[in-house]
Amino acid sequence: MKTVLVTGGAGFIGSNFIHLMLKKHPDYKIINVDALTYAGNLENLKSVENNPNYTFIKADIRDAGTIGAIFDKYPIDTVVNFAAESHVDRSITDPQIFLTTNILGTQVLLDAAKAHWKLAPDDKYSRDYKDGVRFHQVSTDEVYGALGKTGMFVETMPLSPNSPYSSSKASADLIVRAYHETFGLPVSTTRCSNNYGPYQFPEKLIPLMINNCLTDKALPVYGDGMQIRDWLHVEDHCEAIDTVIHKGKVGEVYNVGGNNEKANIEIVRLIISTIGKSEDLIKYVKDRPGHDRRYAIDNTKITTQLGWKPKYTFEQGMKETIAWYLDNRKWVDNIVSGSYQKYYAEMYK
Ligand code: NAD
Ligand code: DAU
Repeated sequence: MKTVLVTGGAGFIGSNFIHLMLKKHPDYKIINVDALTYAGNLENLKSVENNPNYTFIKADIRDAGTIGAIFDKYPIDTVVNFAAESHVDRSITDPQIFLTTNILGTQVLLDAAKAHWKLAPDDKYSRDYKDGVRFHQVSTDEVYGALGKTGMFVETMPLSPNSPYSSSKASADLIVRAYHETFGLPVSTTRCSNNYGPYQFPEKLIPLMINNCLTDKALPVYGDGMQIRDWLHVEDHCEAIDTVIHKGKVGEVYNVGGNNEKANIEIVRLIISTIGKSEDLIKYVKDRPGHDRRYAIDNTKITTQLGWKPKYTFEQGMKETIAWYLDNRKWVDNIVSGSYQKYYAEMYK
């Protein structure tokens, strides 16, 4: 029996992870701590809200007092930290919250885990922790920076982030590493490529393009549309995290990706043709400042050492994802209208 603290569980990947964990590990307790920012949507978890193994707590990971009280109340043995400001474009217009949430919030969680898991909490030299505890940091391939036409990201590469978002994630990775090196805290980190799938907030490329196609709005392609991302279905990412928290070596970093490099314009054309609209909807717009040209993940370490591999082909994953957004128009409409926030704001005042 494990008690897993999932932070940011009301977001895209965190909510998919909670669904997976409750299904795959029916003897685990899941505590979801989420501040319900604009990106947090409890509609993603409606089908599990009455599951006795699931608890939701509205809290900010930067709030040390509340996070400490949550550790006091529940026998948490695993932390999976998804909570973050995650959208690159927002980090360009308003960087500060990316630094406070992504860096300081991670440090607050690390401190709480250290204080509650250490066998001799007052001894600063002690490196002994309760059995089986682990702090898992959900990071991103963007910490490595951008690639040219060739090469792939490997775990041993120096970090070279280019946006306020990716530099805040890289900073958090280094703080996580420091808590392992200095205090002996059992940690692991995954760095995943771009995810797609159900419950992705419609400001990100794939759900934005699907929604705009369905409503006959222009499809804003940044620059020449030839930037390359390495796409992975969200369920495969969640399976990879589940693999690492159970089998991954403490102190290690694992890249996660499915060898699916696609130029943005290819994705946009695929969505247009699947939905049956015209390419006249494509509108090339000003490029994102500091736009990373290409990402590509070398997944050798996680596939060979831990036996994880993606289940979805890109074709099948995209087919199902587009079908999901077609079947769940109300989910998107509630976000676009803002009603998703009003409803839960009332409930968690
Ligand atoms: P998201 O923006 O959909 O969700 C983030 C969640 O964190 C939201 O529910 C939000 O309410 C919550 N949150 C934000 N600030 C908080 C705070 N201060 N305290 C508590 N909760 C807070 O993000 P996502 O796309 O699901 O990404 C989740 C994690 O995975 C992030 O750490 C991101 O860096 C990482 N990641 C994302 C991708 C991707 O393609 N989306 C790929 C690799 C890694
Ligand atoms: O690589 C992992 C990262 O992937 C995660 O760490 C981030 O949290 C996640 O947001 C994502 O970052 P990207 O910047 O790659 O994702 P986004 O969906 O914003 O953009 C994907 C690509 O599409 C990127 O090259 C920018 C481009 N784009 C995006 C939008 C929103 C457009 O051309 N037009 C758009 O309207």
